[in-house]
Amino acid sequence: MSKQQQLDDLNKEWSAKALPLQAGATQAVPGEGNPDADILFVGEGPGKDEDEQGRPFVGAAGKFLTNLIGSIGLKREEVFIANMVKHRPPGNRDPLPEELAAYAPWLDRQVAIIQPKLIVTLGRYSMAHFLGETLSISKIHGQAKRNKKGQVVIPMYHPAAALYRGNLRPVLLADFQKILKVLALITQGSPVNEEEDQKEAVSHQKQAALF
Ligand code: URA
Repeated sequence: MSKQQQLDDLNKEWSAKALPLQAGATQAVPGEGNPDADILFVGEGPGKDEDEQGRPFVGAAGKFLTNLIGSIGLKREEVFIANMVKHRPPGNRDPLPEELAAYAPWLDRQVAIIQPKLIVTLGRYSMAHFLGETLSISKIHGQAKRNKKGQVVIPMYHPAAALYRGNLRPVLLADFQKILKVLALITQGSPVNEEEDQKEAVSHQKQAALF
């Protein structure tokens, strides 16, 4: 079965479930893009425009995300774009921990089907899901990390944050510039950050010492 078919089946299965944010939403916004994408972007949840259209990142923050993707020579259709929660929280409030937990298995199944090489988290909720709760986005944005599942993740600010904090625009643009470099390292099987680089150097030294 094709990945697209698997994603369609998954969305059907989950659309039939009772989910916590469903009652206030027009429709589910599961995500869209190339099912064979190397890069998966994960935001927070649908806003008003996304709720109306059933598509992720189509409002003002979405336009900026589309431009950021274009800034590294890619098109939206080449990547996959999803969210932590698939229904719009009432009045665009932040999703609650139990809501994030209810939708997380849907996202995890999407990841398992797409098997992206690189996950770019947009904002703190998706960063917490893939890298853990205790991290500070202002300290680690733009840095590739490998999580316990072996997924390579680059945490980034949410594009909506840059709409009201203009000084984050150049930060996001600079962080996006790292995406293709990290992807090339992953494809080559090279370490994706300094920590892995040092581990590899130590293991080479140990191997050399054996001969
Ligand atoms: N913000 C998000 O996190 N996701 C969207 O789809 C749109 C705005």
